[in-house]
Amino acid sequence: MTADVVVAVRGVAKKFARSLKRSFVYGARDIGRLLLRRPVVDALRASEFWAVREVSFELRRGRSIGIIGQNGSGKTTLLRMICGILRPDLGEVAVAGRIAPMLALGAGFKPVLSGRQNVFLNLALLGVSERDARSRYDAIVDFAELHDAIDAPLGTYSSGMQARLGFACAVHTEPSILVVDEVLSVGDAKFRGKCRNKINDLRRGGTSLLLVSHSPVLIETLSDECLYLRGGKMAGFGAAADVLKQYEADSIQQAAAANEARLAALQQRDLAPGQRAAVRSVRLQSGGKDVEHWFCGRPGEVVIALQAAAPTEPISVNVMIFDLVHQAGETVQMLVSSRDHGWLALPGGDCEVRLGLPQVGLRPGSYRLKLSVSRGALHDILDVVDDVRLVVRDGGGSEHCAFFQPRVWSSDRAGVCGRHVPVAADEPDPAGADEG
Ligand SMILES: Nc1ncnc2c1ncn2[C@@H]1O[C@H](COP(=O)(O)OP(=O)(O)OP(=O)(O)O)[C@@H](O)[C@H]1O
Ligand SMILES: [Mg+2]
Repeated sequence: MTADVVVAVRGVAKKFARSLKRSFVYGARDIGRLLLRRPVVDALRASEFWAVREVSFELRRGRSIGIIGQNGSGKTTLLRMICGILRPDLGEVAVAGRIAPMLALGAGFKPVLSGRQNVFLNLALLGVSERDARSRYDAIVDFAELHDAIDAPLGTYSSGMQARLGFACAVHTEPSILVVDEVLSVGDAKFRGKCRNKINDLRRGGTSLLLVSHSPVLIETLSDECLYLRGGKMAGFGAAADVLKQYEADSIQQAAAANEARLAALQQRDLAPGQRAAVRSVRLQSGGKDVEHWFCGRPGEVVIALQAAAPTEPISVNVMIFDLVHQAGETVQMLVSSRDHGWLALPGGDCEVRLGLPQVGLRPGSYRLKLSVSRGALHDILDVVDDVRLVVRDGGGSEHCAFFQPRVWSSDRAGVCGRHVPVAADEPDPAGADEG
């Protein structure tokens, strides 16, 4: 490992078994093989799969690598191997310096011990001597803002308080490498801003960063390079802007391919006997043209072709939008025509209903749309089309936002004299006060 490399990952692979029972059996056999100094079985056994395979890269001192990939692509597994929590089945990880792992904040905490006792326990686990721990204790409690609760048992802390204490411990170990798994998205906005600033401070001091995030914008802002994992393998590695473009293009292509099959099947459907209305096609448009993705802050339309057997009683067309990236598939929008616009009477035959969004407020990411046609005050369902995929890309100005806020800046006297550009870790950050 050359002098300025702090993490070297070489041909690393990790497999898991989908069945818990087999996982125990294989685990016991693997330990036996290790004790007998036999090589690990590198072929897959029944129910096993590679969660990570053939991953190699180097992180240099003071540099930052962002890791992106869809759910289940192996990001956390890779970080756990780098932090020494999991042992790779193949390949090796070499680390020079102290790692501050921020994977599941507060994971090693003991609920029956007080906050104070947990700080000392946590620091000891992170390799800090007792003397150093004592000298850093006050700064940790100050950072976590837990003065009143520090002697209460940790089991009485809220999850936000535990995350604060976990983060405070990790960053006060004088780490040379920070390993961050999505933790910039936990806790309240004020604490997230504080974490973000602390990470920036450490980076300005030369600490290297490995950051997993689902947010291309966050990775582009904080990373020099980006590693893109797909199905556990490296699908891309290089300058963050280039790799993120590739990731975005793949996400759009996957969403388009999933939609194509689903929407083609829709058009084959005929109204079932007794069915009053059905959805025959769904198209995404922007500015009147068919598109495969929308841009945050720009117009978006959903065009829904309906067919009715005969003129219908009043119906409502409903569009539910689920966030697949930031909120684990939760509903983020529910747009109901009967509420927004009025009940609709479909004529017999074909008819098109358009939902227009003058400015798409969804933040960049990937979404699932569920469309339904319902009738009556209780919204009896006449037809449903689920799992239409939608990708929203950054249209400029949606960084660090939970949604797009249309806005206008002005001043009576101050003129514009430059635009914000991301800074390298060793430069002072003029926009350092913003939050993640
Ligand atoms: N201990 C385990 N036993 C069995 N399977 C596991 C285990 N840990 C992870 N997996 C599986 O390995 C794959 C990769 O998981 P991992 O948590 O690394 O993905 P990820 O990229 O971090 O996903 P996310 O974006 O949802 O956090 C997934 O299929 C997951 O179900
Ligand atoms: Mg993960």
